[in-house]
Amino acid sequence: MTASLIDGKAFAATVREHVASLVAGVKAEHRITPGLAVVLVGEDPASQVYVRNKGIQTVEAGMASFEHKLPTGTSEADLLAMIARLNADPKVHGILVQLPLPGHIDPDLVINSIAPAKDVDGFHVSNVGLVSTGQKAMVPCTPLGCLMLLRDHLGSLSGLNAVVVGRSNIVGKPMAQLLLKDSATVTIAHSRSRDLPEICRRADILVAAVGRPEMIHGDWIRLGATVIDVGINRIERDGKTRLVGDVDFASTAQVAGAITPVPGGVGPMTIACLLANTLTACCRAHG
Ligand code: GUN
Repeated sequence: MTASLIDGKAFAATVREHVASLVAGVKAEHRITPGLAVVLVGEDPASQVYVRNKGIQTVEAGMASFEHKLPTGTSEADLLAMIARLNADPKVHGILVQLPLPGHIDPDLVINSIAPAKDVDGFHVSNVGLVSTGQKAMVPCTPLGCLMLLRDHLGSLSGLNAVVVGRSNIVGKPMAQLLLKDSATVTIAHSRSRDLPEICRRADILVAAVGRPEMIHGDWIRLGATVIDVGINRIERDGKTRLVGDVDFASTAQVAGAITPVPGGVGPMTIACLLANTLTACCRAHG
């Protein structure tokens, strides 16, 4: 292996410590406790793990955690009514509705019912528009975490060729906007892009967020490139369940200059940025 490891787990711990110290200051000086409400509809096991971790880390940072677990059969109207109550609750500064939602609920309708100032996921169309025009916004947590790792590792991103593989609203599209704002030259590619290996080989920065286990191989990578692997895929190998990214780690690490591992790379940054967004929402709400 020639690539250096980008240690997202360690970086996320420093972000969480920083947030916790700022939270302690807000509580001491202003007698306000930042609060995050997380809403989970249904029984999806992966979502249950994510929501539990968010709750634990919220409390560890000194913030208030409000968990709302609703049955799979919850109606869209009831979910919208709960969000309206959270929007009006002064103890709640951030609201996150865990995705995916059950099929009978329209996720766009639900997300756009969250007050934009409390939308700590940054998924509301108002925040999407603000991010894409470079204005003050709630920035989606996973792309924000990737950007922090890239800035920490590379310094300036200006003029670099960045390729984002994946076009989701949660990661691919906002990631591209943030890289563009940092003056990278950005290409958005995806699973149907023609000559995908060729496009990837042009990347000084490659962000893989395509949701396909180990799709990107070492021979797609430019020598010395910085590779950010957003994928978290569960696969069976040698009779064991393993977590792998969208990048084939072994072959890519032979060519890249630096790479995030899975697990321990981007994943921990997402929750750290969620805590940071909740604190930001609280500070903005109180002027
Ligand atoms: N499901 C998977 N990732 C996310 C995320 O970042 N936010 C929410 N709300 N749901 C998710």
